[in-house]
Amino acid sequence: MDLFEKLTSNMGPLALHADAAKGYYTFPKLEGEISPRMMFNGKERLTWSLNNYLGLANHPEVRKADADAAAAYGLAYPMGARMMSGNSSNHELLEEELSKFVQKEDTMLLNFGYQGVLSIIDAIVDRHDVIVYDAESHACIIDGVRLHQGKRFVYAHNDLENLEKQLGRATKLAEKTGGAILLITEGVFGMSGNQGDLKGIVALKKKYNFRIFVDDAHGFGTLGKTGAGAGEEQGVQDEIDLYFSTFAKSMASIGAFVSGDKKIIDYLRYNTRSQIFAKSLPMPLVIGALKRLELLRTKPEIKDNLWKVVDALQGGLRKEGFNIGTTKSCVTPVILNGTVEEALHLIHDLRENYMIFCSIVVYPVVPKGIIMLRLIPTAAHSLADVEETIIAFGAIKEKLANGEYQKHEVADLSLG
Ligand SMILES: Cc1ncc(COP(=O)(O)O)c(C=O)c1O
Repeated sequence: MDLFEKLTSNMGPLALHADAAKGYYTFPKLEGEISPRMMFNGKERLTWSLNNYLGLANHPEVRKADADAAAAYGLAYPMGARMMSGNSSNHELLEEELSKFVQKEDTMLLNFGYQGVLSIIDAIVDRHDVIVYDAESHACIIDGVRLHQGKRFVYAHNDLENLEKQLGRATKLAEKTGGAILLITEGVFGMSGNQGDLKGIVALKKKYNFRIFVDDAHGFGTLGKTGAGAGEEQGVQDEIDLYFSTFAKSMASIGAFVSGDKKIIDYLRYNTRSQIFAKSLPMPLVIGALKRLELLRTKPEIKDNLWKVVDALQGGLRKEGFNIGTTKSCVTPVILNGTVEEALHLIHDLRENYMIFCSIVVYPVVPKGIIMLRLIPTAAHSLADVEETIIAFGAIKEKLANGEYQKHEVADLSLG
């Protein structure tokens, strides 16, 4: 059998509707300046699908810092991996500033969040160690766990009772193998918006011996008094042994970091293969990150604006009787019931008739019969944007209930 023939005869669950969906439901092109109003298929849409939480993507100071750094350094400098020839004072300065911001001793920059998480997990556990992780963890955690050659125990999402059971099993096993336990969770779960129960997890440290690694991609910059994330929000930042975030969300850029005690970060510097064997972050990304971090630090009103929008959106949706799940963050899921086909008609109506663009999640990512619209409010949205959206959502909810999205004429699914 030919390998490629085998693969292309079944393109996988995400490609299920690929022919009808390409360019519209999948791989859409949002064009123009990153903002709440962007162009899609030649028309302006109110956009709720970018993780530009703090609205920094187009902040004039950020744009200037990015452009100046690109002009000064290009994308090549520094060349090589950090350990060999790819280090610079700015890389080290950014690490120092990030450490202060997330209240940790030391920090290591990572080129990409996904790779970084995978590689950190790979670096810190060996076949004698045991991983315990939340069932709804992001793909980068799942893939990191897949690399692990020892045992792993998954616990039901945010379920402390089940976690304790798994920690008990892990402890017994680790005693046998002479290994140790690593617990991995997210600070904020990107689909549901739930915060990981970090406080509850930390309390279990009194009873069990384990280290905590938190992926706080959605919490960094958005949660906690100073924006240090979900750990700060829950009063347990000190107890997080390894704190990770990407620059892809609040920082509206590329890159990531991991912070913790100096000794463990030093260990990571010499053992994280995705950093040792890959080129370091280009200078414009580092200088751009320094500028973004300065804004996070010195302009708390940006985060306050974000939360005004979040509160108005989530409060308004709840008031209108929408099910927005159990979110405790900016991530705003709207959970409806319907078939995949109804979901496609609904999103088409929302985009073409109400001019609203948001992400949609259907089976197999969520259970059959569930349609999840996912809204990402940002500091750049206005309260008028929120109002417009809640009115439109009221209308589509009614149409869904009346069975209008079962009719084929609502959307031409062959739309390219
Ligand atoms: C929870 C979480 N972790 C890690 C990542 C990966 O980060 P990056 O985009 O920097 O690879 C993402 C998505 O960006 C994420 O949502």
